[in-house]
Amino acid sequence: MTYKIDRLGHLGDGVAQGTDGPIFATGVLPGEEVDGVLTGDRLTDIRIVTPSTDRVKPTCRHARACGGCQLQHAADPFVARWKQEVVQTALAGQGLTAPFRPMVTSPANSRRRATLSGRRTKGGVLLGFHGKGSDIITQIPDCKLLHPALIAAFPGLEALVALGGSRTTELSLMVTATRGGVDVVVTGGKPLDAGFRLDLSRIVEAHGFSRLTWDGETVALRDRPAQSIGKATVVPPAGAFLQATAEGEAALLSGVQQALGPQRRVVDLFAGVGTFALPLAATTEVHAVEGDRDMIAALDLAARHTQNLHRLSSETRDLFRRPLEPDELKAFTAAVIDPPRAGAEAQTACLARSGLKVIAAVSCNPVTFARDAKVLTAAGYRLDWVQVVDQFRWSTHVELVSRFSLT
Ligand SMILES: C[S@@+](CC[C@H](N)C(=O)[O-])C[C@H]1O[C@@H](n2cnc3c(N)ncnc32)[C@H](O)[C@@H]1O
Repeated sequence: MTYKIDRLGHLGDGVAQGTDGPIFATGVLPGEEVDGVLTGDRLTDIRIVTPSTDRVKPTCRHARACGGCQLQHAADPFVARWKQEVVQTALAGQGLTAPFRPMVTSPANSRRRATLSGRRTKGGVLLGFHGKGSDIITQIPDCKLLHPALIAAFPGLEALVALGGSRTTELSLMVTATRGGVDVVVTGGKPLDAGFRLDLSRIVEAHGFSRLTWDGETVALRDRPAQSIGKATVVPPAGAFLQATAEGEAALLSGVQQALGPQRRVVDLFAGVGTFALPLAATTEVHAVEGDRDMIAALDLAARHTQNLHRLSSETRDLFRRPLEPDELKAFTAAVIDPPRAGAEAQTACLARSGLKVIAAVSCNPVTFARDAKVLTAAGYRLDWVQVVDQFRWSTHVELVSRFSLT
């Protein structure tokens, strides 16, 4: 029996109407007719009977098996339309619409941060992403997603897995390309002792990693894991949030700058290590607020060593429990807000009563973005535009930057 794919769900699976309800299929596109083996509500051994004109040959030879990408079989214009529709649908759920700016997509091989899995095997080591819908690790020597610096780190990462992994448990390796070499954060490894620490630091030296953090402990610091942010040099704490690609970061920053326009004093809410605060401080006073003390310390240190910045103050504060109140927000001319996936319910309620003329809102979750947008628009703000920034290329993640204004 053939099935016609109606749409893609939010995880990128195709959805078709079966006789007993919806049927899900991976690696397909809307409009395609497919057949395969139906097990429960899932189609496997899929054969594309009528391919979509949006179908392309994946650029990566690992795409079929590897779960790192979900949309390699779709043409870029399709992905751009689909990601925009995800945001439009979330906004429509709140009764909202917005003009959209064209999506900006990060190039192939630009992901500077990723979390890989590693496991020892009888014959050696497995390192890579989990397979599609499976917990088996797929090796990805020709990955088209990761920055070349991360791919070049594979031999060293494999050495870490061989030494500190096991055949029964899996290591998680968060890797970040930095100016001082790859910064590695491992969790789930063997317990540390003096000899093991020494062996690990030998691997760090031999493979030129900048820093190795093993189950929460920094075991080696060969060089500073520094990032350039604006004119500043920032050394983020191990595992701290960083935008996934330099190009995505630049696009988000450009969107934020265009949303704000010239300002006198900006508050950067959920500021991280200063992705927006540091570049903005080149032209305006900035107050950066972030919940993580170590990230604020990294931001402060970077600001102190950067010349010609306007005043950049900072504050460690839990913005879920203690958002900046409308009275405090009145000290600023505009706000930037970039919350985690949960959104910023409490802080948005305060922004809605702040009277601030401009808010640049960045989000990695269209659903919480739309929820918070509803609060702002109900208070009289206009959603001027939204721009999707695709820094998780070929994945179903959707990120955006937007502008709200009060007239
Ligand atoms: C999406 S990141 C954005 C960081 C920064 N704007 C950037 O672009 O690099 C969200 C930030 O919110 C911070 N955060 C999470 N929960 C928080 C809370 N309850 N209060 C304040 N900050 C929080 C995280 O530590 C993280 O740095």
